[in-house]
Amino acid sequence: MLTTLDAGSIRLGDLGVHRLGFGAMRVCGPDVWGQPADRAGALQVLRRAVELGVNFFDTSDAYGPHVNEEQIAAALHPYPAGFVIGTKGGLLRPNRYAWNPDGQPGHLRRALEGSLTRLRLERIDLYQLHAPDPHVPFAESVGALADLQRAGKIRHVGLSNVSVKQLEEASRIIPIVSVQNEYNLGNRASEDVLLACERMGIAFLPWYPLGAGGNLNLPIVKKVAVRHGATPAQVLLAWLLARSPMMLPIPGTGSIAHLEENVGAVSVKLSADQFAALGRSGARVPKR
Ligand SMILES: NC(=O)c1ccc[n+]([C@@H]2O[C@H](COP(=O)([O-])OP(=O)(O)OC[C@H]3O[C@@H](n4cnc5c(N)ncnc54)[C@H](OP(=O)(O)O)[C@@H]3O)[C@@H](O)[C@H]2O)c1
Repeated sequence: MLTTLDAGSIRLGDLGVHRLGFGAMRVCGPDVWGQPADRAGALQVLRRAVELGVNFFDTSDAYGPHVNEEQIAAALHPYPAGFVIGTKGGLLRPNRYAWNPDGQPGHLRRALEGSLTRLRLERIDLYQLHAPDPHVPFAESVGALADLQRAGKIRHVGLSNVSVKQLEEASRIIPIVSVQNEYNLGNRASEDVLLACERMGIAFLPWYPLGAGGNLNLPIVKKVAVRHGATPAQVLLAWLLARSPMMLPIPGTGSIAHLEENVGAVSVKLSADQFAALGRSGARVPKR
């Protein structure tokens, strides 16, 4: 059976995880709000991911909100050895359409306690600031996570939705082990952040690795998929894996069939020509 073991591994601080993770957000209800119609089916997807060798899950207290962390614990606690959960705090969901930053230290402390309870953990392996809060000095939010790490409640700190400047600022306060920004074949606006992660030797977790499904129909992706006998999703993930050794894709799905297909991407090795042709496709790459 093909598993994520075949994708090699990557470090998150002192932890090693297989290089294809799972973004758990999609097993919540529509708009990442509440329970899905088929809760049992959602838990099956999570368990199947682990059977396929996935040992890194990405989640957040904002997914559901709270629902996604509870689903992970319900499906998988007690967690298998070597299983790493990366969750996040710093976004509020007052309703299904809003994702409002709250990076105040008091909120981050309360958010972390909630995640510990829902995930049934005493320490979070990877705790990521979900997004900088424009109304709170960035150093204050990061400083709160540093305090929580010193208190033994966080093993490693990661960032999400940050610029290179913010990554550098945070790294002067506390060791940062990962950055999670939007990045996929069709949107490479965070190319500079990826390059900074490579320089710093830390993991880069591209969210929307499939462009939320939107990149599946790109003509070049379909063409390479046909040539390779692979699917468009597999080509998009194979391109990310080939793009950088620091890349830890976290594709999300609520479907076991799609999950199995996505894990199959680890066996798709693009030729140099295919990799280059995909890279030349019309992505929004910022001028450097
Ligand atoms: N830090 C942040 O601000 C942030 C923002 C967004 C997401 N995230 C994280 O990143 C993870 C990945 O992002 P994402 O799940 O939104 O986007 P994605 O992985 O790019 O795409 C997921 C979408 O593609 C579909 N899909 C998945 N596999 C497929 C396949 N093999 N064939 C066809 N369609 C497929 C899914 O539908 P089905 O369910 O029908 O398969 C879903 O609609 C999330 O789960 C979350 O953990 C983080």
